[in-house]
Amino acid sequence: MLIDGHGRRVDYLRISLTERCNFRCQYCMPEKPFSWVPKENLLSFEELFMFVKVAINEGVNKIRLTGGEPLLREDIDKFITMIYDYKNDIDISLTTNGYLLGESAKRLKDAGLKRLNISLDSLKSDVAAKIAGKDVLKKVLEGINKALEVGLGVKLNMVPLVGINDEEIVDILEYAMAKGLKIRFIEYMENTHANSEIQGMHGREILSKIKEKYHIRALGREGASPSFNYKLLENGYEFGLIDPHKHDFCESCNRIRLTAEGHLIPCLYFDEAQSIAEALRAKDIKKAVAILADVLRDKPKENRWSHEEIASREHSKRAFYMTGG
Ligand code: GTP
Ligand code: 5AD
Ligand code: SF4
Repeated sequence: MLIDGHGRRVDYLRISLTERCNFRCQYCMPEKPFSWVPKENLLSFEELFMFVKVAINEGVNKIRLTGGEPLLREDIDKFITMIYDYKNDIDISLTTNGYLLGESAKRLKDAGLKRLNISLDSLKSDVAAKIAGKDVLKKVLEGINKALEVGLGVKLNMVPLVGINDEEIVDILEYAMAKGLKIRFIEYMENTHANSEIQGMHGREILSKIKEKYHIRALGREGASPSFNYKLLENGYEFGLIDPHKHDFCESCNRIRLTAEGHLIPCLYFDEAQSIAEALRAKDIKKAVAILADVLRDKPKENRWSHEEIASREHSKRAFYMTGG
C-alpha cells in the first residue's frame, strides 16, 4: 500500500502522456511553448507500464491519462489495453479536450477505457474559439456525443472566466443536465503560463450564478475527489465545484502524478518532482520504487492557491499542460 508522509493513502495515479496540445486554452497554454519536449525524452508505453504495474501491485486502483492532449499520443489505445489486460477492474479514465474523440472514442472503449472527463468551456462557437485559440466547438460536441454513443462514462469540466464565459454557467449546467452528465465547475488556478489578463471566478460567484435560477443544496465531497457536490432542489440534478483556493480536499489527497518525461510529482501546485526516467530505462524497478517512496514521504500537506496566498506571492510556475491538471 502507498502511504504518504502525512498518512494519506495514495491509490490514484495520473499519467500525463504528452505536454503537446492542439488547443491553446487561455488558462493553460495560450501560446505554443518555446519548444516541445523532444520525442526521444518521452518514456515509451513499455517503460511507463513498468511503473504502472508497481503502482497497481501497491494498491493503485484508479489511473487517469492526461496531457496536454493525451489523444495526440499515437497508439494510446494500446497503452490502455496493456493496463486493462493486467487488471481489468482498474478505473481507467482519460481527461481530454474532446476534439479528437469523434474518431477515437470507439477504439478507446474497445481498448478498455471506462470513463472520460471532457472540457467544455462554452456553447458559443466564438467564445469557445476565443478560449481555445481555434474553432473547436462543433468537433468537441460531436466528440461528446460519440463518447456517449459508444458507452463511455462522461463528465464535463468548465473553467469559468470573468467577462468571457461567466454568463454561460447556467447554459452549460443545463446542457449537461439534459444529457444526464455531471458537470464540474473548476476555479481557475493561477499559474505563470496562463494569459495574465484572465481572471477566474470564485466558487461562491459560480454558485451565485446558478442560484439566480435554481435552489441548491450542498451535498459534500465524494471520497477523495477535489469536487464538492451540490444538488438542484428543483429536480435532484447533481453537479460539482472544484475549489482549490479552499484546498480542504488536500486533507484526503490520494493522488500522485507521473509525466511523459518520467517525473513523479507529489502535488500539482509545487515545482518539486523527482525523475524515475533513468531507473525505468535501465529496468531498475527497485530504484524507481525507492524514488517513489521518497516522493511520497515528501508529498506536501496542501497546495498554496488559497486566496490569501495568491494575493501575496508569486503564482505556481508549473504549466498545467505538463501535469494534465
Ligand atoms: P474524477 O476521477 O472523475 O473525479 O476526475 P478528476 O477530477 O480527478 O480529474 P480531472 O482531470 O477531470 O480534474 C478535474 C480538475 O481537478 C482539474 O482542473 C484538476 O486540475 C483538478 N485537480 C485534480 N486533482 C487535483 C489536485 O490534487 N489539486 C488541485 N489543486 N486540483 C486538482
Ligand atoms: N485552472 C483550472 N483548471 C484548469 N485546467 C487546465 N488548466 C487549468 C487552470 N489553470 C482544467 C482543464 C481540464 C482539467 C484537467 O483541468 O479545463 O478540464
Ligand atoms: Fe490543451 Fe487541456 Fe491545456 Fe486546453 S487545458 S491547452 S486542452 S492541455
